[in-house]
Parts: sequence; structure tokens; C-alpha cells
Amino acid sequence: MNVLLLGSGGREHAFAWKIAQSKKLKNLYIAPGNPGTALSGKNINISVNNFDEIKKFCIKSDINMLVVGPEEPLVNGIYDFFANDAQLKNIAVIGASAIGAMLEGSKDFAKEFMHRYNIPTARYKTFTNENIAQGFEFLARLEAPYVLKADGLAAGKGVIICDNMEDAKTTLVEMLDGKFGAASQKVVVEEFLRGIEVSMFVLTDGISYKLLPEAKDYKRICDGDKGANTGGMGAVSPVSFVDDAFKQKVCSRIIEPTVAGLQAEKINYQGFIFFGLMNSGGEPYVIEYNVRMGDPETEAVLPRLDADLLDLFEGVASKTLDSKTCNTAAQAAVTVICASGGYPDAYSKGIEIFGMENVTDSIVFQAGTAVCNNRLQTSGGRVLAVTALADTIENALKKSYSSISKIKFNGMYFRKDIGQDILNYRT
Ligand code: AMP
Ligand code: GLY
Repeated sequence: MNVLLLGSGGREHAFAWKIAQSKKLKNLYIAPGNPGTALSGKNINISVNNFDEIKKFCIKSDINMLVVGPEEPLVNGIYDFFANDAQLKNIAVIGASAIGAMLEGSKDFAKEFMHRYNIPTARYKTFTNENIAQGFEFLARLEAPYVLKADGLAAGKGVIICDNMEDAKTTLVEMLDGKFGAASQKVVVEEFLRGIEVSMFVLTDGISYKLLPEAKDYKRICDGDKGANTGGMGAVSPVSFVDDAFKQKVCSRIIEPTVAGLQAEKINYQGFIFFGLMNSGGEPYVIEYNVRMGDPETEAVLPRLDADLLDLFEGVASKTLDSKTCNTAAQAAVTVICASGGYPDAYSKGIEIFGMENVTDSIVFQAGTAVCNNRLQTSGGRVLAVTALADTIENALKKSYSSISKIKFNGMYFRKDIGQDILNYRT
């Protein structure tokens, strides 16, 4: 099979690494990819939203399957673009249709969907500039802290949590006045959920689904979950509190109604669903849906997946996923992100990276890297995702941190406490 993978982050390096292990693979191309993906396939210099160039490349290279890493091309309708094009319609697309992708692309759509199927989530209401007065009234009925979410995609920055009413009101006004451009013309105001977060993932063909290993990610820049929000500074899998009883609740109250709801509404969905969940006293609530895999969760999840990924994708494409096997390795996985100093604020790029060749017992997935004059350099905020597998999370952490000690670049920053909350977790 000839496969084109879209994306360029650590998540896509992990996908490329896993796809390259498939018995069914002939050629793997990645657009645009990064120096890490180039170790598993051939990078093609096309942007993920340039559908016309993607089309030309697919025809020229006899592509059989398109695997979409990030959400943006899905929200922009790449699934439908392929389905409606005579020359592309036989190429399998692993990803949601544009309407399906609204589960991530519009918080209001997602909340209404959950409401229709009684899927547990925070109480909410949606406001625009026309009914802002009702927004203030709704805020008054909630308790602090207040959660305000831009309806549309806002590069992961569209959620603001306000500690007091004054801030919440000011933030609501600012958001509706265009703080996130068109994305915040509508704002979802919701109840704050207490508990501990976990990311759960399924692959679905629109009828059945496979539950993938769960992961916990670490969103804040500083140890102890302090400081600014980032794209994610590390991940661990498995997550101790996701026991059989919790999984059972997630499957019956959240995953099954979601897949059944998509099917009932005739929304084409052949791809991943990422459930951002809050475990509130043992009860799962949906914080958000994403229509892609998480980053850096993927870098911890895929190494634990005991399955041929292209075989699963074939099952997704032919709607026979039910007949496929998908096991999870008993080993634990830990991913620690090495970031550029200053991230998530301003940071330098083009800093040479040393020592990667000395890492022997971890997988170094590349996220924000570039090659210049044959030297590997930083080119983004999150630079490397160092994943280790071991019998326990503790041992995987030791391996990952020991590997990191062999890697150096000026300003390299990483969290020292990945996984500690899980190791110390008591119900
Ligand atoms: P997002 O940008 O959608 O990933 O949301 C950012 C973060 O905001 C989430 O990971 C949660 O930590 C937090 N968050 C979002 N909604 C809620 C909520 N209703 N209650 C508590 N925390 C929330
Ligand atoms: N790590 C969270 C995300 O990918 O959205």
C-alpha cells in the first residue's frame, strides 16, 4: 500500500514510525513531515491545507491511503474533498468528514451533540454579542472559577479559566469582541469540573470502534502543573485510575453514544476520536472532543499498540474494523518533551542539537527540528519527544530521563516531574 501521511509534529513522527512497521506498507510519504519522519518515509514539501497539490501528488504517486494527523485539514474538509473527486474517491481517507470534524471545530456543536445523546459534560450555554446580557446572568448562576471557550479553533489557546466574576465578565466581552478573531464570535460558558484529566482515544469506522491505550498529558510548562499552558510537555500510558470499571463507564456513557450518535446523524466518521475527559470522583465527563490523536499522547500511545496500524486502517476504510485485532502491550510508556528555552512564549530557533546518536534505550520522536547544512537544529517550541518503554512507569521514567541527559542543545528545557501525580495518585 502507498500511504500519504499529513502533518509535521512529534505525533506524525510517531505515526510514521508505526506505519513503517506495517507488513502492508509499500511506500510512505509525509507532507510536509520533519527530519524525524524522513527516517521512516519520504518527506514531500506540500502544506497540509494545500488540497490541490495533495491531489496532484496522490495521483502521481499512486497513493492508496491518506492518513490525516492534524485537525485543520479535516475541519477544512479534506475527507469530503477526496470523497467527492472522481480521481480521488477510491483513496481511503483516515479522518473525519468536515461535519464530523465540527466535534473539535465548534465547541457549541460538540456541546449540543453531547446534550442530544446525554453524554456527561459540564453544564453550559453559548453566547454571542446579541445576548451578552444573558451571558452575564448565566455566569452569576455558576460558581468560580468560570470556564470560557471560543467556539472555533484558536490554536489551542481558546479556553480561558477566570478565578473571579469581574475577570469572567471582562473576558467574555473581550472574546466576543474578537480576541480570537472569528473563532470567538460565539463563546461557550461552562461549569468548572474538578478532578483529574485523562485522554482516551478510539479509532472508528463509523460503526464499531477500537479503544486505544489511554494517556495522561502534562499541559503546563512548569513542574507541579504551574505556569503557562503549552501543547503538552509529556505523557504517560497507562494511567492507573483508568481501571476496568472506569473504562466501562467511559465506553457505555461516552464512547458508544458518541459513535452511535454520529451514525444516527449519518455523519461520515472514519478516523480517530480523542476524548479529553475529567475523572471527577470516579465519574467521567467530557471536557472536549478532538478529531485527531493527541500530541504528545500519540508518542506514548502508539509504541504500546500491539497491532499493525495499516491493517486497522484498512478495517476503518472498509468498515470492517470489528474483524480486526488491536491489543495493548503490557509495558508502560513515558514521553518527556524537550522544549526550546522560553517556550510557550518567544524562543530562538536554529540551535544545533547534539547527542541524539548516543540514545540507545528510548525512541526520540522529532517535533520541532530542521536540518541545515547537514546539522540537526531546533525549529519549534516543542523540539523532541523522548519515549521510553519499560515494565513500570517508574522504570520508563528512569530510561527516558537518562536518555535526555545524553541530548543537549542551548536552552533545552524539560519538566522533571512527568508521571509523578500518577505514581502518587490515591482515590
Ligand atoms: P483545551 O484548550 O480545550 O484543551 O482546554 C484547556 C484546558 O482547560 C483543559 O485541558 C482543561 O484543563 C481545562 N478545562 C476545559 N474545560 C474545563 C472545565 N469545564 N472544567 C475544568 N477545566 C476545564
Ligand atoms: N495534548 C493535547 C492535545 O493534543 O490536544
